Amino acid sequence: MTQELQQQTILRDAMRRLNMTRDAFASRIGVTRRALDTWLLPDESPESRAMPEIAARYVGEILGGIPEAGIYTQSAYSPTIDYEGRPQLLSIDQFSRESAEALFRTADMMQPIAHRKKITRVLEGAVLANLFFEASTRTRVSFGAAFARLGGSVCDTTGFTFSSMAKGESIYDTSRVISGYADAIVVRHPEQGSVAEFARATNIPVINAGDGPGEHPSQALLDLYTIQREFSRLGKIVDGAHIAMVGDLKYGRTVHSLAKLLSLYKGLKFTLVSPRSLEMPAHIVERIARGDHVIEQTSDLHAGLAGADVVYATRIQKERFADESIEGYTPDFQINQALVDEVCGRDTLIMHPLPRDSRPGANDLATDLNHDSRLAIFRQTDNGIAVRMAIFAVLLGVEHQVRHSMRDAAWKSPVSIGPDDAVFQGFD
Ligand code: ASP
Ligand code: CP
Repeated sequence: MTQELQQQTILRDAMRRLNMTRDAFASRIGVTRRALDTWLLPDESPESRAMPEIAARYVGEILGGIPEAGIYTQSAYSPTIDYEGRPQLLSIDQFSRESAEALFRTADMMQPIAHRKKITRVLEGAVLANLFFEASTRTRVSFGAAFARLGGSVCDTTGFTFSSMAKGESIYDTSRVISGYADAIVVRHPEQGSVAEFARATNIPVINAGDGPGEHPSQALLDLYTIQREFSRLGKIVDGAHIAMVGDLKYGRTVHSLAKLLSLYKGLKFTLVSPRSLEMPAHIVERIARGDHVIEQTSDLHAGLAGADVVYATRIQKERFADESIEGYTPDFQINQALVDEVCGRDTLIMHPLPRDSRPGANDLATDLNHDSRLAIFRQTDNGIAVRMAIFAVLLGVEHQVRHSMRDAAWKSPVSIGPDDAVFQGFD
């Protein structure tokens, strides 16, 4: 099965499509939760077990006559990323729950490559232009790494100073010129709507890596992907979850995209916790309110976090301030170990798009949580590779070639990447 579609991908896809917790799914297919857990572990984990053929067939039957028999190449189940008929990722509004989850199946398939166990060359010869006109570590490097892990090459430009935009070149000219050099463009730019302007000047795929205070759709996708994977481990589903978004909700583009994406699910409770001057824009609150969700807005951190399944903290986006007087968070706005122990549950996930401002006085998400298993920030960043690989594979139309093209990686890499993350991958 590993040579075909990994059993982990099939099982995760089945649970997503049936909207079942691990416990419910294990009982549906008549196995113990423990057995299901071992089938979901990565192949390289010592605890990993192969799913018996009979169980695989039964999962296939439940899903309607699948799994090896071509479901994953049928167009009805193929992920699509489309903006006005073109392969572009500009806004999270392009997604339905189904299309986001179809993309997650492709991301699951990419995990062995993201974990450096397998390699593929499906994008051999392709070139990515990574154009970043604002500061970035994760998004720039992970889009570049994702493209390279698919076999492509990456060209970068960073900042206005080293781009001919400093000489007055327009977005239109820049985009059209780069399109003659590259097969896809990833753009981050300080102005809202600017990435859509890049997209209008080209027929090659353009990805919005953050347009000012507008959106950051790939971040929202990797955040939801992370929430689903973590919830799967914790025996939860997204429907009915309580999500607390904390901090600069006014300028934080990650929470704008994530709130809209989560609102595609059912019966969520959103607690929007921010200083008064940094509240979530009304148009996003109205969007969430169109679903059957409960929305609470508060500036009381203690009360806001109570009972949350996910606490999604954000950095003060000081670089976007107009006349807001707030400099950083006050100490009583900081999410730290003491607060988490006091108001959060044992299963609460603590997330943050990063970077967190770790300078004294910033009072962003505290580093004293680094050894707390509830802190999911590095699982988020790790998942960014698989999700961004999936985005490229879909935009460039190679997603169906990936599984047949996988070969073993030849080099040695650590079994788990960080000193504290082993347990969640089943590597310990
Ligand atoms: N890195 C995220 C963004 O670019 C969040 C942040 O910078 O605070 O939107
Ligand atoms: N999360 C995120 O976008 O990080 P960077 O700003 O470092 O790219």
